Amino acid sequence: MRTVQLPCGEKVPALGLGTWKMGERGGDKSKEITAVRTAIDLGMTLIDTAEMYAEGGSEKMIGEAIAGRRNEVFLVSKIYPHNAGKANTPVACERSLKRLGTDRIDLYLLHWRDRKPLAETMEAFQKLKAEGKIRHYGVSNLDTDDMEELWGVAGGPLTQVNQVYYNPAARGIEFDLLPWQRKHRVPIMAYSPVDQARLAGDKTLAAIGKRHDATAAQVALAWGLRQPDSIVIPKAVRPEHLKQNVAALDIKLTAEDLAEIDKAFPPPRAKKRLEMT
Ligand SMILES: NC(=O)c1ccc[n+]([C@@H]2O[C@H](COP(=O)([O-])OP(=O)(O)OC[C@H]3O[C@@H](n4cnc5c(N)ncnc54)[C@H](OP(=O)(O)O)[C@@H]3O)[C@@H](O)[C@H]2O)c1
Repeated sequence: MRTVQLPCGEKVPALGLGTWKMGERGGDKSKEITAVRTAIDLGMTLIDTAEMYAEGGSEKMIGEAIAGRRNEVFLVSKIYPHNAGKANTPVACERSLKRLGTDRIDLYLLHWRDRKPLAETMEAFQKLKAEGKIRHYGVSNLDTDDMEELWGVAGGPLTQVNQVYYNPAARGIEFDLLPWQRKHRVPIMAYSPVDQARLAGDKTLAAIGKRHDATAAQVALAWGLRQPDSIVIPKAVRPEHLKQNVAALDIKLTAEDLAEIDKAFPPPRAKKRLEMT
């Protein structure tokens, strides 16, 4: 598995597994558990979840899936902004740890920003880190001005990633956030990399895929993976999707492919507000 180096020096898989909409009531838990285990077997050992996903159901399902295999995975979870204050953070983290069946979260993210001062969240994250409950922390859905502000807060520059919406159809971050993160050496963790399956039916990507014996979804992932400092976290339950996603690591898009993608999905020419799904 290709890796991406975090600012702390630790290397994590460039391709992980997303788990939004997994662990829901009425979902097929056994299929989801199998998907998580298959992802680990295929090398997608970075697993992304959040306390929000199925209100803890995703974390719980992952806990079952990784029982006995905790040391093989790099667990990413996220805290609701309304829990990210001084008093609630340790309680929310403890609940996540319990559901995940572990004593530590590898990377704990602020899911998005509300009115709470970032300084308070950073202080709470640093405390959790000192206690060994989380190994690293980061943020999600923060725009460039938020990142600037974060860099002025104690503990802010220890942020390991910003997890944002990024795929060929959602390129707004390329205007200023991506360059800002590059300058500060903070990797992007790209969520919804196949645009929640919408790109699987895209004609331009399908035509490019034909030249690589690949599907449109694989081309979308290869596009996300083309940059050495991006971590990409598609969600997939179907075994064929999991296998195709790992195979996307081997697709090398040519200059012609990239130009066709730019034509169909033009890069931003001006600042756009950060999009969220
Ligand atoms: N921080 C945030 O605010 C935020 C927001 C959104 C998402 N996320 C994270 O990012 C992860 C990924 O994003 P997402 O779930 O929104 O969307 P996504 O990964 O872009 O799309 C998931 C959908 O694509 C399908 N799919 C996966 N691989 C495929 C392939 N090779 N060919 C065709 N279809 C394929 C999946 O099908 P099957 O499941 O049926 O295989 C599923 O329906 C989430 O699960 C979550 O962990 C974070």
